[in-house]
Amino acid sequence: MASLARKIIIDTDPGQDDAVAILLALASPEDLDVLGITAVAGNVPLDLTQKNARIICELAGKADVKVFAGCDRPLGRDLVTAEHVHGKTGLDGPDLPDPKMPLQGQHAVDFIIDTLRAERSGTVTLCPLGPLTNIATALQKAPDIAQRIQQIVLMGGAYFEVGNITPTAEFNIYVDPEAADITFKSGIDIVVMPLDVTHKALVTRARNDAFRDLGTPAGIAVAQMTDFFERFDKEKYGSAGAPLHDPCVTAYLIKPELFTGRHVNVEIETQSELTLGMTVADWWGVTDRAPNATFIGDLDADGFFALLAERIGRL
Ligand code: RIB
Ligand code: CA
Repeated sequence: MASLARKIIIDTDPGQDDAVAILLALASPEDLDVLGITAVAGNVPLDLTQKNARIICELAGKADVKVFAGCDRPLGRDLVTAEHVHGKTGLDGPDLPDPKMPLQGQHAVDFIIDTLRAERSGTVTLCPLGPLTNIATALQKAPDIAQRIQQIVLMGGAYFEVGNITPTAEFNIYVDPEAADITFKSGIDIVVMPLDVTHKALVTRARNDAFRDLGTPAGIAVAQMTDFFERFDKEKYGSAGAPLHDPCVTAYLIKPELFTGRHVNVEIETQSELTLGMTVADWWGVTDRAPNATFIGDLDADGFFALLAERIGRL
C-alpha cells in the first residue's frame, strides 16, 4: 500500500535549530518521507552545512538519507554567516563525530529539479530552513517545477517581531533577499514560520531537561545544542530560552493544528539598505496586494515541545 507519509525535501543550513527540525522529521516516518536533504550556505559556509547535515543524519541513525550540497553564496550578494549565534562549526554544543556517510555527487539544485520532475506533480513539499538560494536557483533554472511543488513550508521573516540580524530583517531572508523575492512571487502555496511564532517556541529549562532526560544520544545532543544556542537570544531579548525556529516547519507538517496564522500578502524589501530583507506582511489587510502566503503568528508551545520530546525520544 502506498505510504501516507508526505514527501518532503529539507533545504537547510545547520545550525542547531535546523538539527532539531531534521531530527524531528527523521523520527517521524509515518508522517514524513524525507526524499533528500539539501544544504545551503547560511549560518555557516556550505562546507560546514553539508557536513553538519550528515552529522545529524548519523545522530538520528539514518545514514541512508541522501544529502546534497547546494549554493555556496546568495544569488547576487556576499554571504553573511551567523557564527556568533551557532558557533564556528555551526553545531557547537555537543561533541559529535565527523560523518562517515557520503555526500551525494549531484548538486542540490539539480536534485530538487530532478525529484520534482520525477515524482507525481503536486506531491512533494519543500521545507527551506535557511536562505532561499537553492530554491530560487531551482525555480530560475527550471521554471516548470513551480507548478509541480505541492507546498513550500519555510522558516523566515517577521512582522511584529521585526528583525534578528538587523533592526528590520530576519536572518534567512536577509542573507538572500533576491532569492526570497523570487520565492514569494512564484505563485506557489507558501506557509511561513516567522519570528512572530518561533519566538514563542522557547526552550525553557524544564523543556530542555525533558530532552536531556530522554537519556539517548539524540536527546542529550539536543539539550547540549540548545544550551549553546540560547546564549544569543537570552542576551539580546532576555528570553526564557532558545527559540526553536526551524522545528516549527517540520512540526507544522506533522501537527498543523498546533499553529495559527493568516493568509496575507508578503513582499520582500530588496532595494533599501536600511530595511533590506524585511518581510512586509500585510497582516491587517490595508493594501489591495493579493495574499500569497499563510503567515503563522502563534502556536501551542506545550503541544509543540511534547511532540518534539516524544518523537526525538524514538531515535
Ligand atoms: O533567523 C533564524 C533562522 O536563521 C533559523 O533558520 C536559523 O537556523 C538561521 O538559519
Ligand atoms: Ca536554519
